[in-house]
Amino acid sequence: MTLEEKAGQLVQYFDFGGATVAGADTTGVDLETAIAKGDVGAMLFVTDPARINELQRIAVTKTRLKIPLLFGFDVIHGLRTIMPVPIGVAASWDPDIAEKGQAVAAAEARAVGIHWTFAPMVDITLDPRWGRMVEGAGEDPVLGSAMAAAQVRGFQGKAIGEPGHVIAGPKHFVGYGASLGGRDYDEVDLSENQLRNTYLPPFKAAIDAGAGNIMSAYMGLNGVPAAANHWLLTEILRKEWGFKGFVVSDANGVNSLEPQGMAVDQKQAAVRALEAGMDLAMSVPSGPSPMLGLVDAVRKGELDEQVLDDAVRRLLEAKFRMGLFENPYVDPAKAAKVLEDPEHRRVARLAAERSAVLLTNDAGLLPLDRKALKSIAVLGPLAASGQDTLGPWVFPANGPKAISILEGLRTKLGDGAKVEYATGVAWPTRKNRSFFDDINKPEPRLPVDEKVEFAKALDLVKSSDVTVMVLGEPQNMEGESASRSDLSLPGEQQKLLEAAIATGKPVVVVLMGVRPFNLGDARPGALLEAWYPGSEGGTAVANLLVGDAVPGGKLPFSWIGSAAQAPYTYSFLPSHQPAGADTRYWNEDNSPTWPFGYGLSYTSFAYDDVKVDRAAIKRGEAVTVSFVLRNTGARVGDEVAQLYLHQRTGTSSRPVRQLKKFARVTLKPGESRRMQFTLSAEDLRYWSDATKSWIQDRSTFDIWVGGNSQAQATTRFAVVE
Ligand code: NOJ
Repeated sequence: MTLEEKAGQLVQYFDFGGATVAGADTTGVDLETAIAKGDVGAMLFVTDPARINELQRIAVTKTRLKIPLLFGFDVIHGLRTIMPVPIGVAASWDPDIAEKGQAVAAAEARAVGIHWTFAPMVDITLDPRWGRMVEGAGEDPVLGSAMAAAQVRGFQGKAIGEPGHVIAGPKHFVGYGASLGGRDYDEVDLSENQLRNTYLPPFKAAIDAGAGNIMSAYMGLNGVPAAANHWLLTEILRKEWGFKGFVVSDANGVNSLEPQGMAVDQKQAAVRALEAGMDLAMSVPSGPSPMLGLVDAVRKGELDEQVLDDAVRRLLEAKFRMGLFENPYVDPAKAAKVLEDPEHRRVARLAAERSAVLLTNDAGLLPLDRKALKSIAVLGPLAASGQDTLGPWVFPANGPKAISILEGLRTKLGDGAKVEYATGVAWPTRKNRSFFDDINKPEPRLPVDEKVEFAKALDLVKSSDVTVMVLGEPQNMEGESASRSDLSLPGEQQKLLEAAIATGKPVVVVLMGVRPFNLGDARPGALLEAWYPGSEGGTAVANLLVGDAVPGGKLPFSWIGSAAQAPYTYSFLPSHQPAGADTRYWNEDNSPTWPFGYGLSYTSFAYDDVKVDRAAIKRGEAVTVSFVLRNTGARVGDEVAQLYLHQRTGTSSRPVRQLKKFARVTLKPGESRRMQFTLSAEDLRYWSDATKSWIQDRSTFDIWVGGNSQAQATTRFAVVE
């Protein structure tokens, strides 16, 4: 390969298909000419099979070496069939459904010609102001790692190149979720203690599960932008973890090294990125990719050609493994069949049912008594909007559709009850424009005469047996570039909620959106968190409301009481004043409204007889904790049994509690089961900043098992030598 051909392999360009996108000047490069010249190795954002073939044909017929292009895309929670948003799936605490959902996403993506997805997003965050919380698995490294590995298995199948699967690219390496103030793209400073014990484990789990790619983050980590961070991309990723796949920058992440003060020009940006361990630069083609400057850099001795060769080899290997040299094209005729596979909708419905979390259910209002119910009021613009039900990271061009909650209820209740609807409030408006408002073109928001609608909604509440209000945030109010500085319900929703409750009629609130909304003193009869439930959202929510499905999800983050409490984790370090744990603010509690791991069911569970198989073990040995879980209610239901650990003393101070194990099980009424979890030496080890190493201490360890992070059933064991 010539130097030019090598550099070209490291270039990835967007193709917006001629669309004008705010902040993205796409006029600088003529894509087809660049591909024909061999200046492009990969593409993103092309999802039309005909267009994929067209661009591929240029690469494999017009260039000297006929190297096919690799097509990547943000298949975050589905392409045509949309699963609940990733944090919703994490709330299922069911890695199996996460794997199945992403296998569906992979099948659809591969069918249209996509080879690689920029997912799973495995960023831990303790800060729900950060809009991208929706894409991850929440605050916990153990739950996050399980979800990361499951999604990689779903996307990739057994090995890279398996038919109907795509390469997985966990992102954003690393620390993006800890941005200052929860502001998207802001800087991040994390100690090695936090990185190694909390933020890195989900990435490690994704790589151990075989992920073929990793995407670096935008921001500076401890002052060094992730795209040029040698410690991250080479020391940890390749040397410690043995990662063999390719690394891609986030969009314009290599270009941005110049404004970030790491390079004097684009050529130097590319050199610094490559030397740090970057392979491929993802860029909006507003000008030639910085990677093309590597030709000159090698010629002038500014970059060792070996570094370039290594990067190129990794890209070519991905293409070989995906079988692109044998089969560069996709068959558009087959795509339609895969995209409409009814099995995909079934998985989406199941995932939505399993992800819902029941937060309150006063006096057993839910499930609704279908026989007694004659009229039901459905309120809120989100209730009737299929588009919002899908959540962010969904593109109209791929034809996704969702059953809205209103439709779901109408279908479910049939002629049995009168279902009437009022929007009640207007759509919230945003202060700052987002890139996603352009590329993700929301349906036009119809103007609402709020005064008229508000009154109409209240009349409906009064004249109906029960009201279901769907409250939350519209599709693009969460996700990238959608941080918020407060956690209240946007617009007039809170006012409508309070007015509805004040009528004295029963009110069920279904939350759409993933922020821990602060509902003030408003206490609806029941509160069901549905996240953005995806294509089958309306069907799933209707099933849950009438009891054809039973909520069994649990919160994957602490539901803080206000934005002022962020960042927050249940897994904090004991302070010098442990008894005063709730006295840290003058004006409010510092404990959350609902703890991490919390969620109710239509039945109830009890934990008894927790014990360990050995009270004392040696370092390196395992200990097994067992307990009896019993369904004490009158319905079949799921419980997520959780095991938390606390190490009393050590080389470092250890968190008050840490999730170590969990299992979601289904029990019939009255059924009990002895369950067990085995803690290995790996589970007891941690990174200490005192020794700058992984260690396992001798100490006493407290164990709790239960249905959330405030579990009470307890036992202990000791590591004695
Ligand atoms: C920027 C986002 O940070 C990243 O998650 C995404 O994959 C790329 N844009 C491509 O859309």
